[in-house]
Amino acid sequence: MAIRYTVTTISPKYHRAILDWQRKNFPELDILLAYWEKYFPGLPRFQLVAKIGELRSEVIEVGRYTGQPKIERAAEMAGNMFYTARRIIRAQCSTEFGSIEQHRMSLDTAPDDTARFEILRIMAEELRHAYQMFWVLDHDPTWKRPGHGDVAAETIEELLAMRMGTHVLDAFNIEFRDFLDNAVYTAIIDLVGKYQLDMMQIFSYAPMARSMGPMLGEEGFHMGFGRQAVKELAVAAARGQGAYSLEDIQRAINKWYPRGLEMFGNEQAGETAVAFGFKPKTNGQAQAEYSAEVEGIIEGVNIALVRVRHPNMPPDEARRLIREVQSSGDSRRGIRPEDLLLVPSRRFFRRRGPEEYVFQPYDLRGDLLTEGGRPIPPERYLAYLARVLPEPYLASEDFRRYAERLKAYHERGTGGPSPFWLM
Ligand SMILES: [Fe+2]
Ligand SMILES: [Fe+2]
Repeated sequence: MAIRYTVTTISPKYHRAILDWQRKNFPELDILLAYWEKYFPGLPRFQLVAKIGELRSEVIEVGRYTGQPKIERAAEMAGNMFYTARRIIRAQCSTEFGSIEQHRMSLDTAPDDTARFEILRIMAEELRHAYQMFWVLDHDPTWKRPGHGDVAAETIEELLAMRMGTHVLDAFNIEFRDFLDNAVYTAIIDLVGKYQLDMMQIFSYAPMARSMGPMLGEEGFHMGFGRQAVKELAVAAARGQGAYSLEDIQRAINKWYPRGLEMFGNEQAGETAVAFGFKPKTNGQAQAEYSAEVEGIIEGVNIALVRVRHPNMPPDEARRLIREVQSSGDSRRGIRPEDLLLVPSRRFFRRRGPEEYVFQPYDLRGDLLTEGGRPIPPERYLAYLARVLPEPYLASEDFRRYAERLKAYHERGTGGPSPFWLM
């Protein structure tokens, strides 16, 4: 179904500012536009505009204002609601800018020009999403409020200055090393985006709600790209071809999936966003649905992997075989556990979320690693992680900071403040 929307632009000052950002951080946009018709024939040419969709409901659908008309002006939101909305818009926009920086880091490792141009299209669409969030703030003069300053201008300036390391969510401060990151990230991290955007279609502040439909439509392409790429890379690995082994792919999943889970915010919170009518589901509900969908994606890849060896095996039989191999840890019909991909437990490698597993030494399967009845010390957990995470990632700033916080947590029994990001 086509999404209906109208198109608009933001004030010239910010339009120029985002173009400046693009020239510095995404100069390849010009190449994409030059070859657009070649790689995306029939598809409307990319344009840096805000797309204003339709509201699904004129009234607020959940929370304490249920049944009241949707809010058109930021000034109509009371203090805490106003700032919570701002925090969500800011976090969303930060993910868009961050992902452009990330994709660009390993653009040159794409296997061919088709993949390269698909990544460029994803980057362009993320730029449009950042533009869209600027529109939300910029078109409504009441983000500037007596006593609160010009919240729109401050937020936009802050966003334009964010770089790898200062983005709101951890997933966007992690460097890409190779095409495997472009692939696994679009499959696993963009999927979180889908859940957030889908939920925010009901956003009680109407301009945000109207922004979601067109963004969601574009995200569909990003996720599709990721799923397809992961499946192709995995099947190539199983055939002994391709640039990456199945273990490389597993390690990339282990790197990204915990950060995807954490993008939902603490899974035992999120009631505030529901109360304000920003989202219909708490963090935990949305995260559980997300996990189930990731399981489904990986199962699809595993079925393809089983069929490399047993080309005619029906899907149901393959599914049973996968379950048997993964639960027993033994080989069955020539399929070893290491011939399949595994979705890590949600306890694995966590740094935000519930106390029970944040900074606790859980393995991929969700078992606490112990020694003499006590959890293993940080050094040993880091050694375990080194065996299951991509080797180049271990040298990254993100992992260095994690290791530091893990040790601090162990010494003090706390990981420091745990801000609620996306709520
Ligand atoms: Fe996006
Ligand atoms: Fe995306």
